[in-house]
Amino acid sequence: MKVLVTGGAGYIGSHTVLSLLENNYDVIVYDNLVNSSVESLDRVEKLAGKSVEFVEGDICDKAALSHVFKKFKIDAVIHFAALKAVGESAQIPLSYYQNNVHGSVCLLEVMQENDVHNFIFSSSATVYGEENEVPYVETMKLGTPSSPYGASKVMVERILADMTVSNGRFRGVSLRYFNPIGAHESGGIGEDPTGIPNNLLPYVAQVAVGKRDKLSIFGDDYPTKDGSCERDYLHVMDLAQGHVAALNWLNCNDEFRGVEAFNLGTGNGISVFSIVKAFEKATNKIIPFEVSPRRAGDLPAFWANANKANKELNWQASRSLEQMMEDTWRWQSNNPDGYLT
Ligand code: NAD
Ligand code: WQD
Repeated sequence: MKVLVTGGAGYIGSHTVLSLLENNYDVIVYDNLVNSSVESLDRVEKLAGKSVEFVEGDICDKAALSHVFKKFKIDAVIHFAALKAVGESAQIPLSYYQNNVHGSVCLLEVMQENDVHNFIFSSSATVYGEENEVPYVETMKLGTPSSPYGASKVMVERILADMTVSNGRFRGVSLRYFNPIGAHESGGIGEDPTGIPNNLLPYVAQVAVGKRDKLSIFGDDYPTKDGSCERDYLHVMDLAQGHVAALNWLNCNDEFRGVEAFNLGTGNGISVFSIVKAFEKATNKIIPFEVSPRRAGDLPAFWANANKANKELNWQASRSLEQMMEDTWRWQSNNPDGYLT
Protein backbone atom coordinates (compact mmCIF):
# COMPACT_ATOMS: atom_id res chain seq x y z
CA MET A 1 0.00 0.00 0.00
CA LYS A 2 1.38 3.42 -1.01
CA VAL A 3 0.96 6.30 1.41
CA LEU A 4 1.61 9.94 0.53
CA VAL A 5 2.86 11.79 3.61
CA THR A 6 2.73 15.59 3.32
CA GLY A 7 5.08 17.30 5.76
CA GLY A 8 6.81 13.96 6.29
CA ALA A 9 10.26 15.49 6.83
CA GLY A 10 9.06 17.30 9.98
CA TYR A 11 9.03 16.24 13.62
CA ILE A 12 5.93 14.04 13.82
CA GLY A 13 6.05 13.19 10.11
CA SER A 14 9.55 11.68 10.21
CA HIS A 15 8.70 9.46 13.21
CA THR A 16 5.50 8.36 11.48
CA VAL A 17 7.33 7.59 8.23
CA LEU A 18 9.63 5.30 10.23
CA SER A 19 6.63 3.49 11.77
CA LEU A 20 4.98 3.15 8.36
CA LEU A 21 8.12 1.62 6.84
CA GLU A 22 8.40 -0.77 9.79
CA ASN A 23 4.82 -1.82 9.07
CA ASN A 24 5.57 -2.47 5.38
CA TYR A 25 3.84 0.57 3.90
CA ASP A 26 5.52 2.24 0.90
CA VAL A 27 6.00 5.92 1.60
CA ILE A 28 6.21 9.01 -0.60
CA VAL A 29 7.03 12.19 1.33
CA TYR A 30 5.94 15.54 -0.09
CA ASP A 31 7.40 18.51 1.80
CA ASN A 32 8.56 22.04 0.93
CA LEU A 33 11.15 21.92 3.75
CA VAL A 34 9.98 25.25 5.17
CA ASN A 35 10.51 23.88 8.69
CA SER A 36 12.60 20.74 8.18
CA SER A 37 15.52 19.18 6.34
CA VAL A 38 15.86 16.01 4.24
CA GLU A 39 18.51 14.82 6.69
CA SER A 40 15.61 13.56 8.85
CA LEU A 41 14.55 11.24 6.03
CA ASP A 42 18.12 10.02 5.39
CA ARG A 43 18.22 9.01 9.05
CA VAL A 44 14.79 7.37 8.85
CA GLU A 45 16.00 5.30 5.88
CA LYS A 46 19.05 4.17 7.86
CA LEU A 47 16.96 3.24 10.90
CA ALA A 48 14.39 1.34 8.82
CA GLY A 49 16.84 -0.18 6.33
CA LYS A 50 14.34 0.84 3.62
CA SER A 51 14.04 3.74 1.24
CA VAL A 52 11.56 6.61 1.07
CA GLU A 53 10.56 8.50 -2.09
CA PHE A 54 10.98 12.23 -1.49
CA VAL A 55 9.42 15.00 -3.58
CA GLU A 56 10.13 18.61 -2.66
CA GLY A 57 7.01 20.67 -3.21
CA ASP A 58 4.31 22.85 -1.71
CA ILE A 59 0.79 21.62 -0.99
CA CYS A 60 -0.54 24.86 -2.51
CA ASP A 61 1.05 23.86 -5.85
CA LYS A 62 -1.72 21.77 -7.39
CA ALA A 63 0.19 21.03 -10.59
CA ALA A 64 3.13 19.57 -8.69
CA LEU A 65 0.78 17.61 -6.43
CA SER A 66 -1.12 16.23 -9.45
CA HIS A 67 2.15 15.08 -10.91
CA VAL A 68 2.87 13.09 -7.74
CA PHE A 69 -0.56 11.45 -7.80
CA LYS A 70 -0.08 10.52 -11.47
CA LYS A 71 3.44 9.18 -10.97
CA PHE A 72 2.76 7.06 -7.87
CA LYS A 73 -0.40 5.07 -7.38
CA ILE A 74 -1.37 6.58 -4.02
CA ASP A 75 -3.79 4.64 -1.80
CA ALA A 76 -3.96 6.98 1.19
CA VAL A 77 -2.74 10.39 2.33
CA ILE A 78 -1.47 11.42 5.77
CA HIS A 79 -1.52 15.20 5.90
CA PHE A 80 0.99 16.75 8.34
CA ALA A 81 2.07 19.76 6.24
CA ALA A 82 1.19 22.95 8.10
CA LEU A 83 2.68 25.94 9.86
CA LYS A 84 2.37 25.34 13.60
CA ALA A 85 3.73 28.22 15.70
CA VAL A 86 0.80 29.49 17.76
CA GLY A 87 2.34 32.92 18.57
CA GLU A 88 3.52 33.52 15.00
CA SER A 89 0.05 32.72 13.70
CA ALA A 90 -1.27 35.85 15.44
CA GLN A 91 1.43 37.96 13.70
CA ILE A 92 0.87 36.56 10.20
CA PRO A 93 -2.64 35.04 10.23
CA LEU A 94 -3.10 35.22 6.47
CA SER A 95 -0.01 33.05 5.89
CA TYR A 96 -1.46 30.50 8.31
CA TYR A 97 -4.87 30.41 6.61
CA GLN A 98 -3.21 30.33 3.17
CA ASN A 99 -0.86 27.49 4.07
CA ASN A 100 -2.99 25.40 6.43
CA VAL A 101 -6.50 25.93 5.04
CA HIS A 102 -5.99 26.73 1.34
CA GLY A 103 -3.16 24.16 1.19
CA SER A 104 -5.46 21.47 2.62
CA VAL A 105 -8.18 22.39 0.10
CA CYS A 106 -5.66 22.08 -2.78
CA LEU A 107 -4.61 18.66 -1.51
CA LEU A 108 -8.21 17.46 -1.10
CA GLU A 109 -9.06 18.68 -4.63
CA VAL A 110 -6.13 16.84 -6.17
CA MET A 111 -7.01 13.69 -4.21
CA GLN A 112 -10.58 13.85 -5.49
CA GLU A 113 -9.45 14.43 -9.08
CA ASN A 114 -7.28 11.34 -8.79
CA ASP A 115 -9.88 9.15 -7.11
CA VAL A 116 -8.02 8.87 -3.79
CA HIS A 117 -10.38 8.95 -0.80
CA ASN A 118 -8.44 7.75 2.27
CA PHE A 119 -7.27 10.72 4.33
CA ILE A 120 -5.68 11.14 7.75
CA PHE A 121 -5.45 14.69 9.08
CA SER A 122 -3.14 16.13 11.77
CA SER A 123 -5.60 17.89 13.99
CA SER A 124 -5.00 19.15 17.49
CA ALA A 125 -6.40 19.33 21.00
CA THR A 126 -6.64 23.05 20.35
CA VAL A 127 -9.89 22.45 18.36
CA TYR A 128 -11.73 22.00 21.67
CA GLY A 129 -11.15 25.71 22.30
CA GLU A 130 -11.80 27.46 25.58
CA GLU A 131 -15.41 26.48 26.09
CA ASN A 132 -15.17 22.70 26.52
CA GLU A 133 -14.48 21.09 29.90
CA VAL A 134 -11.67 18.62 30.53
CA PRO A 135 -11.10 15.82 29.83
CA TYR A 136 -11.83 16.46 26.16
CA VAL A 137 -13.94 13.85 24.40
CA GLU A 138 -14.69 13.57 20.68
CA THR A 139 -18.46 14.01 21.14
CA MET A 140 -17.89 17.64 22.24
CA LYS A 141 -18.61 20.41 19.74
CA LEU A 142 -15.65 22.07 18.02
CA GLY A 143 -14.65 25.09 20.11
CA THR A 144 -13.14 28.51 19.48
CA PRO A 145 -9.34 28.35 19.74
CA SER A 146 -7.58 31.55 20.76
CA SER A 147 -5.10 31.56 17.83
CA PRO A 148 -5.35 31.67 14.03
CA TYR A 149 -3.32 28.44 14.06
CA GLY A 150 -6.01 26.72 16.14
CA ALA A 151 -8.76 28.25 14.00
CA SER A 152 -7.08 26.83 10.87
CA LYS A 153 -7.38 23.31 12.37
CA VAL A 154 -11.08 23.86 13.19
CA MET A 155 -11.67 25.10 9.63
CA VAL A 156 -10.07 22.03 8.06
CA GLU A 157 -12.12 19.75 10.33
CA ARG A 158 -15.27 21.56 9.12
CA ILE A 159 -14.17 21.18 5.49
CA LEU A 160 -13.71 17.45 6.04
CA ALA A 161 -17.24 17.21 7.49
CA ASP A 162 -18.59 19.00 4.38
CA MET A 163 -16.59 16.68 2.10
CA THR A 164 -18.44 13.70 3.51
CA VAL A 165 -21.71 15.20 2.23
CA SER A 166 -20.43 16.12 -1.23
CA ASN A 167 -18.22 13.07 -1.82
CA GLY A 168 -19.88 9.80 -0.89
CA ARG A 169 -16.58 7.93 -1.16
CA PHE A 170 -14.57 10.07 1.26
CA ARG A 171 -12.97 8.22 4.22
CA GLY A 172 -11.38 10.68 6.61
CA VAL A 173 -9.78 10.45 10.03
CA SER A 174 -8.91 13.51 12.15
CA LEU A 175 -6.31 12.67 14.75
CA ARG A 176 -6.38 15.24 17.54
CA TYR A 177 -2.92 15.23 19.04
CA PHE A 178 -2.34 16.45 22.58
CA ASN A 179 1.29 17.39 23.42
CA PRO A 180 3.77 15.17 21.56
CA ILE A 181 7.29 15.14 23.02
CA GLY A 182 10.36 12.87 22.99
CA ALA A 183 12.22 11.29 20.13
CA HIS A 184 12.89 7.88 18.58
CA GLU A 185 14.73 5.73 21.14
CA SER A 186 17.82 5.56 18.90
CA GLY A 187 18.40 9.30 19.37
CA GLY A 188 18.77 9.51 15.57
CA ILE A 189 15.64 11.54 14.84
CA GLY A 190 13.85 14.10 16.98
CA GLU A 191 12.43 17.60 17.20
CA ASP A 192 14.62 20.26 15.59
CA PRO A 193 13.02 23.68 16.04
CA THR A 194 14.46 26.68 14.23
CA GLY A 195 15.36 29.65 16.44
CA ILE A 196 14.04 29.93 19.99
CA PRO A 197 11.79 26.95 20.78
CA ASN A 198 8.13 27.81 21.43
CA ASN A 199 7.31 24.50 23.08
CA LEU A 200 8.28 23.38 26.55
CA LEU A 201 10.36 20.23 26.00
CA PRO A 202 12.66 21.55 23.24
CA TYR A 203 13.32 24.57 25.45
CA VAL A 204 14.12 22.43 28.50
CA ALA A 205 16.42 20.24 26.37
CA GLN A 206 18.27 23.30 25.03
CA VAL A 207 18.81 24.58 28.58
CA ALA A 208 20.19 21.16 29.54
CA VAL A 209 22.64 21.14 26.63
CA GLY A 210 23.82 24.68 27.45
CA LYS A 211 22.27 26.52 24.50
CA ARG A 212 19.90 28.56 26.72
CA ASP A 213 20.56 29.94 30.23
CA LYS A 214 17.31 29.15 31.95
CA LEU A 215 13.71 28.16 31.40
CA SER A 216 10.90 30.65 31.93
CA ILE A 217 7.90 28.96 33.49
CA PHE A 218 4.87 30.85 32.24
CA GLY A 219 2.77 31.32 35.38
CA ASP A 220 2.57 29.60 38.78
CA ASP A 221 -0.80 31.02 39.81
CA TYR A 222 -3.15 28.83 37.77
CA PRO A 223 -5.93 26.90 39.55
CA THR A 224 -3.96 23.63 39.33
CA LYS A 225 -2.25 21.44 41.97
CA ASP A 226 1.08 23.30 41.87
CA GLY A 227 -0.04 26.49 40.08
CA SER A 228 1.59 25.72 36.71
CA CYS A 229 -0.34 24.61 33.60
CA GLU A 230 -1.14 20.94 33.04
CA ARG A 231 -0.96 19.21 29.65
CA ASP A 232 -1.30 15.70 28.25
CA TYR A 233 2.23 14.87 27.04
CA LEU A 234 2.60 11.77 24.87
CA HIS A 235 5.63 10.09 23.32
CA VAL A 236 6.06 10.92 19.63
CA MET A 237 6.58 7.22 18.79
CA ASP A 238 3.22 6.39 20.42
CA LEU A 239 1.74 9.15 18.28
CA ALA A 240 3.47 7.76 15.16
CA GLN A 241 1.99 4.35 15.90
CA GLY A 242 -1.42 6.01 16.24
CA HIS A 243 -1.20 6.88 12.54
CA VAL A 244 -0.41 3.29 11.62
CA ALA A 245 -3.39 2.20 13.77
CA ALA A 246 -5.65 4.71 11.97
CA LEU A 247 -4.48 3.47 8.57
CA ASN A 248 -5.04 -0.15 9.61
CA TRP A 249 -8.50 0.84 10.86
CA LEU A 250 -9.36 2.36 7.46
CA ASN A 251 -8.06 -0.78 5.73
CA CYS A 252 -10.14 -3.07 7.96
CA ASN A 253 -13.32 -0.99 7.60
CA ASP A 254 -14.12 -1.20 3.90
CA GLU A 255 -17.67 -0.03 4.47
CA PHE A 256 -16.68 3.13 6.34
CA ARG A 257 -17.57 6.44 4.65
CA GLY A 258 -17.41 9.83 6.36
CA VAL A 259 -15.00 11.32 8.85
CA GLU A 260 -14.12 10.21 12.39
CA ALA A 261 -12.14 12.12 15.00
CA PHE A 262 -9.89 10.42 17.56
CA ASN A 263 -8.02 11.96 20.50
CA LEU A 264 -4.43 10.78 20.76
CA GLY A 265 -3.20 11.40 24.30
CA THR A 266 -2.40 9.52 27.50
CA GLY A 267 -5.38 10.74 29.52
CA ASN A 268 -3.13 12.34 32.20
CA GLY A 269 -2.43 16.00 32.89
CA ILE A 270 1.17 16.78 33.92
CA SER A 271 2.26 20.18 35.23
CA VAL A 272 5.20 22.25 33.98
CA PHE A 273 6.96 21.89 37.35
CA SER A 274 6.50 18.10 37.17
CA ILE A 275 8.02 18.05 33.67
CA VAL A 276 11.09 19.92 34.91
CA LYS A 277 11.46 17.50 37.85
CA ALA A 278 10.98 14.43 35.63
CA PHE A 279 13.58 15.71 33.16
CA GLU A 280 16.09 16.38 35.96
CA LYS A 281 15.52 12.93 37.46
CA ALA A 282 15.85 11.07 34.15
CA THR A 283 18.94 12.94 32.98
CA ASN A 284 20.78 14.02 36.14
CA LYS A 285 20.88 17.55 34.74
CA ILE A 286 19.82 20.66 36.65
CA ILE A 287 17.38 22.94 34.81
CA PRO A 288 17.66 26.52 36.10
CA PHE A 289 14.30 28.29 35.83
CA GLU A 290 12.43 31.45 36.75
CA VAL A 291 8.71 31.97 37.04
CA SER A 292 7.50 34.52 34.45
CA PRO A 293 4.08 36.03 33.77
CA ARG A 294 1.41 33.86 32.14
CA ARG A 295 1.67 33.41 28.34
CA ALA A 296 -1.29 34.88 26.44
CA GLY A 297 -3.76 32.26 25.24
CA ASP A 298 -2.60 29.43 27.56
CA LEU A 299 -5.39 27.37 29.13
CA PRO A 300 -4.80 26.22 32.75
CA ALA A 301 -5.16 22.49 32.09
CA PHE A 302 -6.33 20.03 29.46
CA TRP A 303 -5.95 16.35 28.77
CA ALA A 304 -7.60 13.70 26.63
CA ASN A 305 -10.23 11.13 27.11
CA ALA A 306 -8.54 8.62 24.80
CA ASN A 307 -11.07 5.77 25.20
CA LYS A 308 -12.31 5.98 21.61
CA ALA A 309 -8.84 5.45 20.09
CA ASN A 310 -8.24 2.70 22.61
CA LYS A 311 -11.45 0.87 21.77
CA GLU A 312 -11.75 1.45 18.02
CA LEU A 313 -8.15 1.83 16.84
CA ASN A 314 -6.79 -0.58 19.43
CA TRP A 315 -4.26 2.11 20.28
CA GLN A 316 -2.89 3.26 23.61
CA ALA A 317 -0.01 5.56 24.56
CA SER A 318 2.28 3.10 26.33
CA ARG A 319 5.60 4.89 26.85
CA SER A 320 6.26 6.38 30.29
CA LEU A 321 7.08 9.98 31.20
CA GLU A 322 10.56 8.78 32.18
CA GLN A 323 11.10 7.34 28.70
CA MET A 324 9.87 10.57 27.10
CA MET A 325 12.51 12.47 29.08
CA GLU A 326 15.33 9.99 28.42
CA ASP A 327 14.61 9.93 24.67
CA THR A 328 14.38 13.73 24.47
CA TRP A 329 17.78 13.96 26.13
CA ARG A 330 19.39 11.22 23.99
CA TRP A 331 18.34 13.10 20.83
CA GLN A 332 19.37 16.54 22.16
CA SER A 333 22.73 15.45 23.58
CA ASN A 334 23.65 13.43 20.46
CA ASN A 335 22.53 16.29 18.19
CA PRO A 336 23.07 19.60 20.05
CA ASP A 337 22.47 21.51 16.80
CA GLY A 338 19.71 19.24 15.55
CA TYR A 339 20.15 17.90 12.01
CA LEU A 340 22.99 20.39 11.39
CA THR A 341 25.11 18.54 13.96
P1 NAD B 1 6.83 20.35 11.68
O1 NAD B 1 6.92 21.81 11.38
O2 NAD B 1 8.03 19.67 12.23
O3 NAD B 1 6.34 19.54 10.39
C1 NAD B 1 5.51 20.13 9.41
C2 NAD B 1 6.14 19.82 8.06
O4 NAD B 1 5.31 20.37 7.03
C3 NAD B 1 7.52 20.44 7.89
O5 NAD B 1 8.41 19.46 7.40
C4 NAD B 1 7.30 21.56 6.88
O6 NAD B 1 8.46 21.76 6.08
C5 NAD B 1 6.13 21.02 6.08
N1 NAD B 1 5.28 22.04 5.43
C6 NAD B 1 4.72 23.13 6.01
N2 NAD B 1 4.01 23.81 5.08
C7 NAD B 1 4.09 23.10 3.92
C8 NAD B 1 3.57 23.30 2.61
N3 NAD B 1 2.82 24.36 2.31
N4 NAD B 1 3.84 22.38 1.66
C9 NAD B 1 4.61 21.30 1.96
N5 NAD B 1 5.15 21.07 3.16
C10 NAD B 1 4.90 21.98 4.14
O7 NAD B 1 5.58 20.15 12.68
P2 NAD B 1 5.11 18.87 13.49
O8 NAD B 1 5.24 19.18 14.93
O9 NAD B 1 5.73 17.65 12.93
O10 NAD B 1 3.55 18.92 13.14
C11 NAD B 1 2.99 18.12 12.13
C12 NAD B 1 1.50 18.38 12.08
O11 NAD B 1 0.90 18.07 13.34
C13 NAD B 1 1.10 19.82 11.79
O12 NAD B 1 -0.06 19.82 10.99
C14 NAD B 1 0.77 20.38 13.15
O13 NAD B 1 -0.13 21.44 13.09
C15 NAD B 1 0.15 19.17 13.81
N6 NAD B 1 0.20 19.17 15.28
C16 NAD B 1 1.41 19.31 15.90
C17 NAD B 1 1.47 19.31 17.29
C18 NAD B 1 2.78 19.49 18.02
O14 NAD B 1 2.76 19.78 19.20
N7 NAD B 1 3.94 19.31 17.36
C19 NAD B 1 0.30 19.14 18.03
C20 NAD B 1 -0.92 19.01 17.36
C21 NAD B 1 -0.94 19.03 15.97
C1 WQD C 1 3.24 23.56 27.35
C2 WQD C 1 3.21 24.23 28.71
C3 WQD C 1 3.30 26.64 28.64
C4 WQD C 1 7.34 26.95 27.03
C5 WQD C 1 0.97 24.01 21.82
C6 WQD C 1 -0.16 24.43 20.93
C7 WQD C 1 -1.07 23.28 20.67
C8 WQD C 1 -0.30 22.06 20.18
C9 WQD C 1 0.85 21.74 21.07
C10 WQD C 1 -0.31 22.08 17.80
C11 WQD C 1 2.31 25.47 28.72
C12 WQD C 1 4.52 26.06 29.31
C13 WQD C 1 6.13 26.47 27.51
C14 WQD C 1 8.21 27.62 27.92
C15 WQD C 1 6.63 27.25 29.70
N1 WQD C 1 0.26 22.29 18.90
N2 WQD C 1 5.79 26.61 28.81
N3 WQD C 1 7.80 27.74 29.22
O1 WQD C 1 0.89 25.50 24.53
O2 WQD C 1 0.19 23.24 25.44
O3 WQD C 1 0.40 23.57 23.04
O4 WQD C 1 1.66 22.90 21.25
O5 WQD C 1 -1.44 21.81 17.58
O6 WQD C 1 -2.01 23.72 19.74
O7 WQD C 1 -0.86 25.49 21.54
O8 WQD C 1 2.44 23.49 24.37
O9 WQD C 1 4.84 23.12 24.73
O10 WQD C 1 4.05 25.45 24.13
O11 WQD C 1 3.52 24.54 26.37
O12 WQD C 1 6.32 27.40 30.87
O13 WQD C 1 9.28 28.11 27.55
O14 WQD C 1 4.52 24.69 29.03
O15 WQD C 1 2.85 27.79 29.29
O16 WQD C 1 1.68 25.51 29.96
P1 WQD C 1 0.93 24.05 24.43
P2 WQD C 1 3.80 24.16 24.83
